[in-house]
Amino acid sequence: MKKHKGKKALITGGSRGIGLAIALHLASEGTDIAINFRRDEEAASKAAEEIEKLGQKALLLKADISDHKEIKEMFVKLKDSFGDLNYFVSNAVSGVLGPAERIGRLGWKRALDTNARAFMLCVQEALKHFDNSITSIVAISSIGGQTVLPGYTAVGASKAALESLVRYFGREFAPRGINVNAVSGGPIYTASLDYFPEKEKVIEEWKNRTPSGRIGTPEDIAPVVSFLLSEEAAWIQGQTITIDGGLTL
Ligand SMILES: NC(=O)c1ccc[n+]([C@@H]2O[C@H](COP(=O)([O-])OP(=O)(O)OC[C@H]3O[C@@H](n4cnc5c(N)ncnc54)[C@H](OP(=O)(O)O)[C@@H]3O)[C@@H](O)[C@H]2O)c1
Repeated sequence: MKKHKGKKALITGGSRGIGLAIALHLASEGTDIAINFRRDEEAASKAAEEIEKLGQKALLLKADISDHKEIKEMFVKLKDSFGDLNYFVSNAVSGVLGPAERIGRLGWKRALDTNARAFMLCVQEALKHFDNSITSIVAISSIGGQTVLPGYTAVGASKAALESLVRYFGREFAPRGINVNAVSGGPIYTASLDYFPEKEKVIEEWKNRTPSGRIGTPEDIAPVVSFLLSEEAAWIQGQTITIDGGLTL
C-alpha cells in the first residue's frame, strides 16, 4: 500500500531542484501533484512527464508567487482542476545574494515577498478553498534562517520569518487538524548554489565542516517532507527540523 495513495499536493517551485525531488517522492507514494513554477516552462513540462510516468496526475501552475493576484488566480485554477487538496509544500525561493550593506529595497522586497509573504498568502488561500481536505503543510527553510551563510542576509531573514510563521500557524491550525512544520536544509546540490560568491571554495568549506562529510542532495530532503506530511507525523506541530548532516552542530 502506497503511503500517500489518493492524496493531492501543491508544491511551489516544484519544477526543479528540491521541489522536484519532493514532487517525485510524493508521486511515487501515490500523490497527484500540482507544480507551481515561475518561468522555466521546459523544466516544468519535464517534471510533469516524470510524475505521469509514476502513474500520477500532474498539473502545471505558472504563477509568480511574489504577486498576491497571481497566487489567488493559481488557487482558483487548482480548485477547478483538482477539486480538493491534502498537502501544501512551500518550497519556491528567490533572492539576491551579496553583502548586507548593499541590500537594496527591491532585493529585500523580493526575498521577503517570495520566501515569507507568499507562504502566508498561499496558506490563507489554501484554507479558503480547501479547508475540508487539507491536513498538512510543510515549508522548506534553510540553516541560513538561524545561522549565518555568506551573502545570505535577505534570504536568511526571510527564512527566519518563514519559520516563525510555521510556529504561529501550527498553534492556530492544530485544533482544525492541520499540521504545519518546516524542514531547514543545509547546503544542497541544486542550481541555487551557483549564486554563492566563491562557490567552489564555500562548498569545500561546508564539506570539511560537515561531520557526515558531504553536501546534501534533494533526495536527503524529500523523504523527511513526505514523513512530515503523513499521519505518522501528526504529533509534530510548528517545528523546524534541521537536515544538514550535522553541519550546524
Ligand atoms: N539548494 C540549497 O542549498 C538549499 C539549502 C537549504 C534550503 N534550500 C531551500 O530549498 C528550497 C528549494 O531550493 P532549490 O535550491 O531547489 O531552488 P532552485 O533549484 O533554485 O529552484 C527554485 C524553484 O522555485 C521557483 N521559483 C522561484 N521564484 C519563484 C516565484 N516568484 N514564483 C514561483 N516559483 C518560483 C523556480 O521556478 P522557475 O525555474 O520557473 O523560475 C524553481 O522551480 C528553497 O526554499 C530553498 O531556500 C535550498
